[in-house]
Amino acid sequence: MARTTSPGGRKQTITLTDNSTGKTVEFPLLKGRLGPKVIDIRNLYGATGYFTYDPGYTSTGSTESAITFIDGDKGVLLHRGYSIEELAEKSDYMEVCYLLLNGELPNRAQKREFEHTITMHTMVHEQLNYFFRGFRRDAHPMAIMCGVVGALSAFYHDSTDIGDPHQRMIASYRLIAKMPTIAAMAYKFSIGQPFMYPRNDLKYAENFLYMMFGVPCEEFQVNPVLAKAMDRIFILHADHEQNASTSTVRLAGSTGANPFACIAAGIASLWGPAHGGANEAVLQMLGEIGHTKNIKSYLARVKDRNDPTMLMGFGHRVYKNYDPRAKVLQKACHAVLKELKIKNDPLLDLAMELEHIAVNDDYFIERKLYPNVDFYSGIILKAMGFPTSMFTVLFAVARTVGWVAQWSELIEDPVQKIGRPRQLYIGKGRRKFVPLSKRK
Ligand code: CMC
Repeated sequence: MARTTSPGGRKQTITLTDNSTGKTVEFPLLKGRLGPKVIDIRNLYGATGYFTYDPGYTSTGSTESAITFIDGDKGVLLHRGYSIEELAEKSDYMEVCYLLLNGELPNRAQKREFEHTITMHTMVHEQLNYFFRGFRRDAHPMAIMCGVVGALSAFYHDSTDIGDPHQRMIASYRLIAKMPTIAAMAYKFSIGQPFMYPRNDLKYAENFLYMMFGVPCEEFQVNPVLAKAMDRIFILHADHEQNASTSTVRLAGSTGANPFACIAAGIASLWGPAHGGANEAVLQMLGEIGHTKNIKSYLARVKDRNDPTMLMGFGHRVYKNYDPRAKVLQKACHAVLKELKIKNDPLLDLAMELEHIAVNDDYFIERKLYPNVDFYSGIILKAMGFPTSMFTVLFAVARTVGWVAQWSELIEDPVQKIGRPRQLYIGKGRRKFVPLSKRK
């Protein structure tokens, strides 16, 4: 039984009564600046001898955070208080990185200095180039990312002491700056082209497109419309509070592991199709559906409980409304296709028709399933020339700043402890060991 109490001016608490013993215990209620109240159960086990059971952490807050706020019912996403729509419209990725890391938007001088610092860290240690040769050419680029980013800790020893704020800052800059370089190298390796060194005269997104699509034997002009779209895609993926990969980074970070190892853990977690791997899965799904005439039969499979098929790019643990990032991406998608003079893209037509039918279907309405960020990102990325296997890599590039900001917040949090969930044990009870000779 639970009861909320708020007697005149006292801190709010919630009272839990154990019906089996009649014992009553009070727990504080915490109120963040935005969002629902939170029951502080830190002394639950000590006071009652009970743990909580919450598979998938659907009702569990693992940390305080001042970085990102989501109201999933209203479809709101704020970074340090600024709405994602405004940031995507009026800001750029470097500013958003600064904002996530420092809590405020930069002034002109701060922005100039931040961009310069990131630019100065874009090259990777030359020895790291040889690392790639150990991979098969057909390796998935996310497999390469997990390995190479983890290996950065073997190259940058001078920024692995997490107790030193200066080293933490340098590691953060290095990760943000080197991810596009490593991502482009993973792609170049897969197609057998030479690696392109970063160019310091180009902006972050431009430089990434140059390293991806340029070749050393000729001039490469980055299309400004595509660079803008790339920058916007980076903004939209920059952070998303305590999602699976961020929680993975925080959990790894809580052990005192170095930042490069923590971000590699985040990349591995992002790879799954329920998380960042969904953008790749959306394109595979659209390919499988093939034509608008097949949408109904595909949706019948999705709705069939005996069929494991999911509508990829739909649904979200937190958003029970439109994912605001999907709306921005849908608009950006039209701009990119127009710039590339792609009229009537059958994939976009198919996606829009699929969305239209799904959002008006009772199955999706009842479950509050709407398109998420991954629904449209793949279509833009494909139009821009990225192979599907690179989609999740781009998500990882953009999300690195979020991981790094959340990791820094964790390290600086005075109440941070090693993350260590408990369990509801359902295995065998204690039993006697049977020697091999007596086992049947
Ligand atoms: N297609 C069909 N049914 C769905 C879908 C979907 N995409 N998503 C959820 N459902 C159903 C689910 O089967 C369940 O139905 P029922 O109540 O009858 O058992 C109900 O909706 C509630 O879903 P849930 O499994 O409790 O939701 P969750 O919060 O555990 O999962 C999710 C969230 C994102 C993992 C899931 O919606 C999903 O797998 N979506 C497809 C993959 C995807 O697009 N992932 C990207 C997420 S956004 C970006 C990111 O995080 O990287």
